[in-house]
Amino acid sequence: MAISIPRGTQDILPGEVELWQLIEQKARELCEKYQYQEIRTPIFEHTELFSRGVGDTTDIVQKEMYTFEDRGGRSLTLRPEGTASTVRAFVEKKLFGSANQPVKLYYMGPMFRYERPQSGRFRQFVQFGIEALGSNDPAIDAEVISLAMNLYKEMGLKKLKLVINSLGDKESRIAHREALVQHFKPRIHEFCSDCQNRLEKNPLRILDCKQDREHELMSTAPSILEYLNDDSKAYFEKVQKYLTQLEIPFEVDANLVRGLDYYNHTAFEIMSDAEGFGAITTLAGGGRYNGLVEEIGGPETPGIGFALSIERFIAALKAEGVNIEINQGIDCYLITLGEEAKDYSVGLLQQLRLAGISAERDYLNRKIKAQFKVADRLKAKFVAILGDEELKNNKINVKNMETGDQVELDLDSFVSTFLEMQ
Ligand code: HAM
Repeated sequence: MAISIPRGTQDILPGEVELWQLIEQKARELCEKYQYQEIRTPIFEHTELFSRGVGDTTDIVQKEMYTFEDRGGRSLTLRPEGTASTVRAFVEKKLFGSANQPVKLYYMGPMFRYERPQSGRFRQFVQFGIEALGSNDPAIDAEVISLAMNLYKEMGLKKLKLVINSLGDKESRIAHREALVQHFKPRIHEFCSDCQNRLEKNPLRILDCKQDREHELMSTAPSILEYLNDDSKAYFEKVQKYLTQLEIPFEVDANLVRGLDYYNHTAFEIMSDAEGFGAITTLAGGGRYNGLVEEIGGPETPGIGFALSIERFIAALKAEGVNIEINQGIDCYLITLGEEAKDYSVGLLQQLRLAGISAERDYLNRKIKAQFKVADRLKAKFVAILGDEELKNNKINVKNMETGDQVELDLDSFVSTFLEMQ
């Protein structure tokens, strides 16, 4: 029996993969402009990194991790996100001591969450994310958000909605936490068992509960914005001021609670407003995580970042009907007639390719007409035709497929002449 692909994963085949590559390339180019450098961390980490980093009251840690014991009896977990690993590397490799502060990093690669697969939600998905470590300047919050927005815009997305919130500093969060406990406690028995556990451990998580979303106490819960102290308020105002300066429209939503525990101050999500996008509209999410570096064992270091998945990025491009011309075609298709010409073409093809020309030939013994058809399918700009007769006379015919013009060239100097024709 044939073996099928695991649930929640996908094969990305030629024809689709070019769009992935384009997005990845754009992301890298933008990081270069914004001066974020790539970091590559392992696909698996010690489980404790995520339970400590992401937070053991989160859905990710409680329900969604791919955790396994290796042959040495260690508990390892396939990374569900990139921030904890980046911070682990920052601490372990002592990047806090580097002269270049803040340390600005980006990553791109597969993440794993055992979630119920549906449109836009996978068990293996590819995140592109950035992390800026070592700065407490609200301007970098605005920079992180603007990089995300600009990446989407550069790819042609228009229907975007940026939602921001502030979760405040420790003092503000303690005050808010107390208010939440008071609010939910009298009727906590009406909530799911997860929420009952969350009440004492992390009442903010209750606001993120999918099961109790419609409960009337949810909409009347005390808002964090009312509990921000002066410093937190001033910080949030600065972030908003900078976003306005960068002409990035946003909405403030006091109910925006992210699904990970490490956030404080700025939290944000970017949604797709495109019709027919489906139930899950969040394209990207991020925020500030002052305190996480210490939690992972490093010195006090502020941090902020975001991550997006390429899967949802592509879904948004499709939902908005953004037309991206990807198949540019090859430079030269080499058509041969006769055995000697065919043999000779093996070396000629290599010469073309080494000269930087994308080139292809027939490997299925096709007749000349069929070879022309393949050249069309590959969108060849030029077709070079070599028969045994031409080979004898040191000639080759080159046809411009757009204009139909045909010229006869010397075979000896064909590659250099061809380069000049481009
Ligand atoms: P997150 O909100 O859990 O944040 O995920 C960020 C993005 O990853 C989401 O907005 C979504 O695009 C994508 N994503 C998450 N789960 C799935 C899934 N199952 N299938 C497809 N796409 C998915 C984080 O991961 C944080 N580490 C972001 C961050 C970086 N915060 C600060 N720095």
